[in-house]
Amino acid sequence: MSAVFDSLSRFYASSIGKKILVALTGLVLIGFVLGHMIGNLLIFVGRDAINEYGHMLQTALHGGGVWIARLGLLACVLIHVVATVSLTKASRAARPDAYGRHKAQVSSTASRTMIWSGLTILAFVVYHLLHFTAHVGNDYATYKTTLHGEAVHDVYRMVIAGFSWAPASIFYLIAMALLCSHLSHGFSSLFQTLGISTDKTEPVFKKAGYAFAGLIFAGNAAIVLSIWLFGYGS
Ligand code: HEM
Repeated sequence: MSAVFDSLSRFYASSIGKKILVALTGLVLIGFVLGHMIGNLLIFVGRDAINEYGHMLQTALHGGGVWIARLGLLACVLIHVVATVSLTKASRAARPDAYGRHKAQVSSTASRTMIWSGLTILAFVVYHLLHFTAHVGNDYATYKTTLHGEAVHDVYRMVIAGFSWAPASIFYLIAMALLCSHLSHGFSSLFQTLGISTDKTEPVFKKAGYAFAGLIFAGNAAIVLSIWLFGYGS
């Protein structure tokens, strides 16, 4: 047991170990962001479709499914953030030059701002959970509707109400743009860390990263903009 613990802590202590953890947890979070966006787009199918989906998530495994997913996601977010902050600190400490003279960089803006876009996304997720999951400062928990004769949470009405308020919509759009910047770099760099992308295939992974980030932005922004600017659902 202590041998396993020893090798795990040696793995985490090494820079490559931390990078692999950042890549693997990033992959899980990418899967979540894609799945969540596809689920959210059900709003365009109609009230019953998104409410049925929300109800299914809440009741899977007698209510245990959502908690397993929450704890899994929380663990991934914590590992991803703690390991990245530690890698950033170590790389800054190894480059005392960075505090004084700034050398011309060939890296992209997205790659240089990963830590900031990442921390802003974290702040957005906290706001988002208070807004749509904990229903802090609103009465969305009281929104109910009937589905197949059963009273369920009216997720459709909640999302329409949420994005009918301009400040929330603007904040979501800014967060989505930062998420897009974060994903565009993170996507290709995770395949590099895991050794899947080679020098030859790197440009393909880079393009795939931009395409993926653009898709996530377009899907999520379509929901916000169609409600806020075009009055969808009201
Ligand atoms: C326009 C974009 C988005 C919309 C419309 C949206 C919508 C929602 C809704 C309606 C819920 C509550 C589900 C329920 O009541 O059962 C939710 C939960 C959640 N969303 Fe989003 N979301 C968006 C973007 C995002 C993004 C970009 C992330 C992550 C970076 C995210 C992370 C989460 C998380 C972690 C939960 C909590 C799930 C739970 O524990 O219940 N969302 N979202």
